[in-house]
Amino acid sequence: MTEAQRTYFLRTFGCQMNEHDSERMAGMLEAEGYVAATGPEDASVVLFNTCCIRENADQRLYGNLGHMKALKDKRPELRIVVGGCLAQKDKQAIQERAPYVDVVLGTHNLASLPRLLRASETEPAFEILEQTEVFPSALPARRFSPWHAWVSISIGCNNACTFCIVPAVRGPEISRRSGEIADEVVRLAADGVVEITLLGQNVNSYGRDLDGTPMFSKLLRVLDEIEGVERIRFTSPHPKDFRADTVAAMAECRSVCEHIHLPLQSGSDTCLKRMKRAYTRRKYLDKVTMIRKAIPDVAITTDIIVGFPGETEEEFQDTLSLVEEARYDAAYTFQYSPRPMTAAADLPDKISKEVVQERFERLISLQEEISLERNVRMVGGTQEVIVEGVSKKNPGRLSGRTRTNKVVHFDSDGAPEGSFRTVRITGGHPHHLKGEVVGTSREPAPRRTLKLPLISSPASR
Ligand code: 5AD
Ligand code: SF4
Repeated sequence: MTEAQRTYFLRTFGCQMNEHDSERMAGMLEAEGYVAATGPEDASVVLFNTCCIRENADQRLYGNLGHMKALKDKRPELRIVVGGCLAQKDKQAIQERAPYVDVVLGTHNLASLPRLLRASETEPAFEILEQTEVFPSALPARRFSPWHAWVSISIGCNNACTFCIVPAVRGPEISRRSGEIADEVVRLAADGVVEITLLGQNVNSYGRDLDGTPMFSKLLRVLDEIEGVERIRFTSPHPKDFRADTVAAMAECRSVCEHIHLPLQSGSDTCLKRMKRAYTRRKYLDKVTMIRKAIPDVAITTDIIVGFPGETEEEFQDTLSLVEEARYDAAYTFQYSPRPMTAAADLPDKISKEVVQERFERLISLQEEISLERNVRMVGGTQEVIVEGVSKKNPGRLSGRTRTNKVVHFDSDGAPEGSFRTVRITGGHPHHLKGEVVGTSREPAPRRTLKLPLISSPASR
């Protein structure tokens, strides 16, 4: 008698690092013979890869777990797995709040997933470690896109931004050896990947723990040599570590895209100090000027927190005026959310919900005006886009992305996902562009084997 097909359903919360880790979780399960299910109802294993950056991420997980209880009552053989940042943060609390969860694993022991799943056949298996066992990139991956890949260059963070829980749940920064990274990118290119996004909490300090000196710009130059990879993106740099050598590498490397996500958090010096961001408003703006000088038509995006403890109206005005001056293409705006294990959670002078909401709306409306202005400026020009698929709202249209990371909608010419089109921009809106196809500018470059010197290193460090 053959065993019934084992299936998994995986839901990812949070950032790109979690997307990357989810691809590894799926890869390990597929290596064990599992196949993807269409939903939790027909899965033998349901996994939640969790986030804890803001409080609403916590609430979403516990809401989702609540729905799982009915399924588990109906099918006791169903395995429920909680992994990732919230698991690392909450440890035993998950078991208390959702005792029907079978496996809990943290951010440092992704590799234990198959073992813990097997162990959970007899009793619940909970394991949270304080140090990374195996670099997640060394694990098998099931890529969710045929043409795009996440490539982790470092894990963890050595900074101490007072609002941020990441260092507590992801640990100190560990860089991956450049040879290993290049090796992975070569394999991805051979597999048809045309765009990669390099991931790290602070990509600009990449390599400091390997060679005592940051090596991010060198890494960009090495990866730029790899044929087949047409676009290199990265996220996120920390403004304090963003230096001229990286800007030069961006300007000179053909495949590095003209987009920088440069998290601001606040435009006020006093607030930045309470956040321990280690730069001033002036220094931040100087970097913006340096970037704009070196890379014409670069798109700059940012993250901003509103309502940090003690934020005065004057400090908030400084954020607004910086936003006016920097002229971001887009900003991800967040309402401050106190997090356990962070210094800011203990700061006095919490800002009332109403004040935060009102400031938040003012900031969004200013940024929308600027985003619209930046996008309207592009009308009449042409852009190379990679087709991402059929538009969600209109099946007769395609959606693609420019090198500057802007979404463009255009009438479908049947172009497959991952192909290149040249598009004339016909309309600019705050969150997207409209266009029409004027050419099939670039077919993915021919593949070749890499001749770069690779620094050999063990699979994990
Ligand atoms: N509250 C609100 N926003 C936060 N972020 C990080 N921590 C918090 C918090 N406690 C935001 C920052 C960061 C982005 C990923 O999430 O803007 O850049
Ligand atoms: Fe968090 Fe600051 Fe590290 Fe970014 S640099 S992950 S905001 S502590």
